Amino acid sequence: MFPRLISLAALAAVSLPLIAPAGASAATARTETFKPGSAGLGDPYFPHAGNGGYDVGHYDIKLRFTPKSHHLTATTTITATATADLSRFNLDYSGPKITKVEVNGTRASYRRTGQELVVTPRHGLASGSQFTVEVSYAGTPKPIKDKALGLEGWINTKDGATVVSEPDGARSWFPANDNPQDKATFTFHVSVPVGVTVLANGEPKNAGIVGVRHGYTTSKWEMSHPMATYLAMVAIGKFKVTEGMVAGVPSITAYDPAVAKKSKYLHRTTEKAVQWESKVFGPYPFSSTGGIGDKLGVGYALETQGRPVYDGGPGEDLEIVHELAHQWFGDSVGLRSWKDIWLNEGFASYAEWLYEEQHGGPSAQKTFDKYYKQKAHFWDLKTGNPGRKDMFDWNAVYLRGAMTLHALRVKIGDDVFFPMLKTWTEEHRHGTVTTRDFVELAERSSGQDLDPFFDAWLYTAAKPKL
Ligand code: TRP
Ligand code: ZN
Repeated sequence: MFPRLISLAALAAVSLPLIAPAGASAATARTETFKPGSAGLGDPYFPHAGNGGYDVGHYDIKLRFTPKSHHLTATTTITATATADLSRFNLDYSGPKITKVEVNGTRASYRRTGQELVVTPRHGLASGSQFTVEVSYAGTPKPIKDKALGLEGWINTKDGATVVSEPDGARSWFPANDNPQDKATFTFHVSVPVGVTVLANGEPKNAGIVGVRHGYTTSKWEMSHPMATYLAMVAIGKFKVTEGMVAGVPSITAYDPAVAKKSKYLHRTTEKAVQWESKVFGPYPFSSTGGIGDKLGVGYALETQGRPVYDGGPGEDLEIVHELAHQWFGDSVGLRSWKDIWLNEGFASYAEWLYEEQHGGPSAQKTFDKYYKQKAHFWDLKTGNPGRKDMFDWNAVYLRGAMTLHALRVKIGDDVFFPMLKTWTEEHRHGTVTTRDFVELAERSSGQDLDPFFDAWLYTAAKPKL
């Protein structure tokens, strides 16, 4: 699912007249002019991530995983709509060996080069038509190792595996249009040996178990709201699960007993944070919530949609507040381009300041003043375009991002700032945005010209004047 513009372009393409030379069928004549879809979507930080020529509507991911051997057998079926006349198209995929690829139920030829899986169907795909791609694969998935960003994707653990794929780790475990622009709904079917627990995004069907066969149980989980590929998650292993209700939706938290100490308050704090955030940011955007504490060794938590993952357990309340704030900022209101990552991290970090301010901690102003005084290196960085290797730089993106929002709040006043946050989450619910969209909303809400303000805070490598 792409933003509206692209879907409209697809519709326009369908209605082009077909002119076929006499004697040839319209289908053949048209197929000759079909072209390959592009291998990327032009993201400046991840040029290979995502692919051109189609729009994914749904991923159906079937996994059979054995924790002891970390062996995976999988079939992912993608339902997509062509947005151009395609002779072939790419997927992003860096997972284990492929055994079969089918398009619309017919064998397709394929070739792997780098992270690209190039699929050539028997018949071209006409713009506007819906098609399915089924990819079967087997082996032991490995995480993506990035020099600057560390480990991401499928992480094998002592007792199973858990997935954390930001920014481009989805391709480690399923073939994807791995770009945050193309959100889709997801279904997970996960078979594991009897006694092993499975969690994923969304809600479990039939209390989590849909079948038992030959010593394996199958769980089915459904994410029925649009989701970026990097937010897709399964967690397999030994987990203590707690269930409840908050803000009108089920809450499901789980932790590996190995991280029990740091997960003691996971369930209670999750519910408290979602409750408070729904008041400040607007209605909770998904149909369930929760969290997962597991031992991954990646050194960060991730806001996997509806159910964040905390490496080593959450440890402190503010980490939970942060990951759950991403449900509004990052997950529901998603990115179109990775350089705008401050729209995720600056907002989730500022949520921590607001939470402290409203729960007997220091005021956001006090926190701001503490950092503003510093002669820190974050004044030398550009929060609105930090560069690929610094995209998760705590100073440049998290801290200066939060400071930008606080400075904006002071400039336009609480009466404009807080309703504006709700307008942002409402107008772009389940969509994607750019920094420009936010600047325009801030200007529209306040009636002020804010270009100089955002230039100074986001795009200038110097300490902004107050
Ligand atoms: N988005 C995560 C968070 O804020 C952090 C994160 C995801 C990260 N992937 C990463 C940090 C890779 C460093 C490297 O909570
Ligand atoms: Zn974050």
